[in-house]
Amino acid sequence: MTELAQFDVIATDLDQLATVEGDLTVVVDAEGKMDPAARRVNRLTKGALARFLESKAFADQKPGAASALRFPAGLAATAVIVSKLDRKCTPAEARDAGVAIAKSAGAALTLLAGNHPKADVICEGIALRAYDYRDQKTGDAPDRAKVTVMCSKPDDISADLAPRLAVAEGVFFTRDLVNAPANVLTTTEFANQLTALSDLGLRVEVLEEDDLERLGMRTLLSVGQGSDSPSKVVTMEWQGGGDEAPFALVGKGVVFDTGGISLKPAGGMEDMTMDMGGAGVVAGAMMAIAKRKAKANVVGLVGLVENMPSGNATRPGDVVTSMKGDTVEIINTDAEGRLVLADVLWYAQEKFNPSGMIDLATLTGAIIIGLGHDKAGVFSNDDALANQFIRCAEDEGEGAWRMPLGASYDKQLESRIADMKNVGGRPAGSITAAQFLQRFVKDGVPWAHLDIAGVASLKGEGDFSPKGATGWGVRALNRLVAEQYEVGDDTA
Ligand code: BES
Ligand code: MN
Ligand code: ZN
Repeated sequence: MTELAQFDVIATDLDQLATVEGDLTVVVDAEGKMDPAARRVNRLTKGALARFLESKAFADQKPGAASALRFPAGLAATAVIVSKLDRKCTPAEARDAGVAIAKSAGAALTLLAGNHPKADVICEGIALRAYDYRDQKTGDAPDRAKVTVMCSKPDDISADLAPRLAVAEGVFFTRDLVNAPANVLTTTEFANQLTALSDLGLRVEVLEEDDLERLGMRTLLSVGQGSDSPSKVVTMEWQGGGDEAPFALVGKGVVFDTGGISLKPAGGMEDMTMDMGGAGVVAGAMMAIAKRKAKANVVGLVGLVENMPSGNATRPGDVVTSMKGDTVEIINTDAEGRLVLADVLWYAQEKFNPSGMIDLATLTGAIIIGLGHDKAGVFSNDDALANQFIRCAEDEGEGAWRMPLGASYDKQLESRIADMKNVGGRPAGSITAAQFLQRFVKDGVPWAHLDIAGVASLKGEGDFSPKGATGWGVRALNRLVAEQYEVGDDTA
């Protein structure tokens, strides 16, 4: 797994500043007021820092942005990075400042945090951005990034930072899974990586094809039957609460989506390695929850399949029976995610009787047309759950936008020969996909569906991530668990 930067939190030692190697970061408010560490840096650089703080360049620097004074005289450091951040900043501003620092810093960084009240959040931003997927590259791996945090209360900052780094590890796990190519991250390898989470105290169970057959998960199995990789469902239980019903997280884990017999065009098909993004977020969220030992009961379930064309693949026109018992006419084998989720959602309810459910899936191209790459689509039968999630996502800087459901959309799924068909035509493609899923949610179960096709992986940089997998949703889900399902939590 890609490792987080190593954080060492120590008491400020002004006498060390002249000899610190790597990059030295000072945090200065908009007025350019220097704290004792910044004043020492200024003295050592014979006033260079003060000159910068009085310049138009600093006045024009946006709050949260960082600029670098490279190769300063008087210091061993390679740069003084100046982060502009008020003491009364919001957590989001502190996180963004950390991201900007990470972008301009090299592998060794000393953050002069003084007694900044959001030092831990700045570090979270640094940790999230300092990600580099190297698993498929040969050659010497660069040194693991090292961050030394000098501050006035190292014990307090360490304690506040620990759960944030636990969550960042979950984000990295998700990104690694989403970035991994499909010949590496097969259904079997995915299940193996999830099984290893039992080391963190999660109870992990892998259901194999014969188990799924016995349970009647024919819609899920119909997706994977053209592939040589076996279909699997993995459940991950975290029991950190009392004996209350768990909250369920359900993920689409299509390790590669060729479209099946309804084959996708060649151009861009390689992007479908990320079609397990929903399962990746569930895995990362479960890791985060376990690593920070959340006082809540949460169960993660993922459906792992590969959608391939073959002599044994499902044909358009086939009718399959879901675990629920409803029949589905498969019009387009490329609308496979909903077939996977239908059975996993039903199984989640039958087996765990959850207090609520959120599913995540790279479900439709249409959500990208609607919302682009900034916001995931949120579909829900429960206003409270939807609003809570959207607020958590906003707090974590992860875009999410409510989309409608409604009986009129549901009509588009009517089939002449079966209980429903798996596509509803071009109009409102993301909504009819969500309507399909809702048919597998029992009455009275609060449920939200997150269509993350646009946000799971990006061609350019994300707000907290380099190009590629973002880990979108891990932090929002973690926060939702912390705020709604946990007692005595103090996540800020
Ligand atoms: N995995 C795709 C959706 C997708 C598209 C994810 C682009 C990420 C980026 C999904 O399985 C799919 O193929 N959906 C079809 C549905 C259609 C056949 C009704 C789509 O969106 O075209
Ligand atoms: Mn598809
Ligand atoms: Zn798909």
